Amino acid sequence: PFESDNVHIPELIATAARISRRGFGILAADESVPTAGKRLKTVGVENTAENRRAFRELLFTAEGLEDYISGVILFDETMYQRTAGGERFVDCLSRRGILVGTKLDTGLRLIAGTEGETRTGGLDGLGDRVCEYRKDGATFAKWRAVFKIGHAGVPSDRAIRENAQSLARYASICQEHGLVPIVEPELTLGPGDYSIGRAAFESERVLSHVMRAINEAQVVPEAMLLKPSMVLPGLDAPLGESARESVATHTAKVLKRTVPPAVPGVHFLSGGMGAEEATQNLQQLQHEYPDAPWSLSFSYGRALQDAVLKAWSGLEENVPAAQALLLELARVNAQAQLGEWDE
Ligand code: 13P
Repeated sequence: PFESDNVHIPELIATAARISRRGFGILAADESVPTAGKRLKTVGVENTAENRRAFRELLFTAEGLEDYISGVILFDETMYQRTAGGERFVDCLSRRGILVGTKLDTGLRLIAGTEGETRTGGLDGLGDRVCEYRKDGATFAKWRAVFKIGHAGVPSDRAIRENAQSLARYASICQEHGLVPIVEPELTLGPGDYSIGRAAFESERVLSHVMRAINEAQVVPEAMLLKPSMVLPGLDAPLGESARESVATHTAKVLKRTVPPAVPGVHFLSGGMGAEEATQNLQQLQHEYPDAPWSLSFSYGRALQDAVLKAWSGLEENVPAAQALLLELARVNAQAQLGEWDE
């Protein structure tokens, strides 16, 4: 069997446990070049390699980040960039005990014959890429599949099956070659007036298929991490449904039904929640499910970065204030992971 033949497994289990240790979470900074461009544009900064590098340097060199952040997700470009002082980002993070991860998927492709549903690309040559990134300092990886909630029957069985299988295939290849896979089935927060109950139903459908595929591919659950969305109603749903008790209650219920206790960490994406909402919901989850078998934690991109980007706005003189803000956002989310955030 795969597990006893794979010499990497003990190390991967230790890595996954380290990333998910209590009081810590993940900073997702793996925006592709076009996505980084969209974000930079909001503060009037041009999408050049140097501007992307400068903003990431601001994030990664913030002193004290290592007190709250156990891992940072990079992508290919950032893996090989350096600080102005010439240190590789990978080394700048690793020497402070922050583990480095890298995005392995190559983005979304339309599934023909569906209503705009997608699958995720990147399986070709994946084993070689995993070996390369591991050699260059990565210890974990991520792969994002996206599901949309539409009219009844969307997400379709077909989209769920295709994405569950590629997530499982990716996770298995990562473990085979020595990276901890973060499995990210995102239910995008989108337009529509669907209820939080419907969102919970669809989340359960998706997660149960994903975990079934993971099991079938002999992925070792102790050596992976899950990155789901919180359960949120459609953006046009009647107000009140997104009350934090309701989000935490539905999210905990779905996870209990689908995620084995052997998985060490569930690291939510922020997925369009505001920074404060993301922290409040994370805190409420600890109260909802204090004896959860997994660490209920964060792997936030926008909720950790948006305000920081704005505070920076491309100006060198703003770096200290922007870094202080990042540290504060990391701190409150780390506290919310412990259920100890003092609002
Ligand atoms: P957000 O927290 O901005 O959703 O980003 C996390 C992420 O990595 C999405 O793939």
